[in-house]
Amino acid sequence: MSISQDRYQQIRTELVRVYSEAVAEHILSPRNMGYLDDSDGSARITGPCGDTMEISLKVRNDTITDVTFTTDGCATTIASGSMVSELAKGKNIVRALGITQREVLSALGGLPEDSEHCALLAANTLKEALKDYLVYKKDPWKRAYKR
Ligand code: FES
Repeated sequence: MSISQDRYQQIRTELVRVYSEAVAEHILSPRNMGYLDDSDGSARITGPCGDTMEISLKVRNDTITDVTFTTDGCATTIASGSMVSELAKGKNIVRALGITQREVLSALGGLPEDSEHCALLAANTLKEALKDYLVYKKDPWKRAYKR
């Protein structure tokens, strides 16, 4: 579905009344949304609010070469998933493991206080996907038993 340029600008104007420019941008044009076939690591987490995020990674030589996310959450969850995927892409896994809620919030230019947990869900899901990668890197045979 496509919307007119006028409608797009109208929605954008409404978003920046509440959110930063970066948040509005990531809500309107989420990066890296979707699934990866044959991922090297993935995780799906449901936060205390009931929203779920899933992140999948492709890793080469311990560098994240591709990352995708999906969520059934609200607009700020989408912005957080989009931003964490941007932050993670191209990073060494050790550095990516250090990506925190605070870093996601800072890159987004902040979120309203009652939405800050969306950034935590994104950071935690990335962390779990990286841990998943590390488990199977160490014991590749376990992948055959993954559900
Ligand atoms: Fe729950 Fe965003 S509202 S993760």
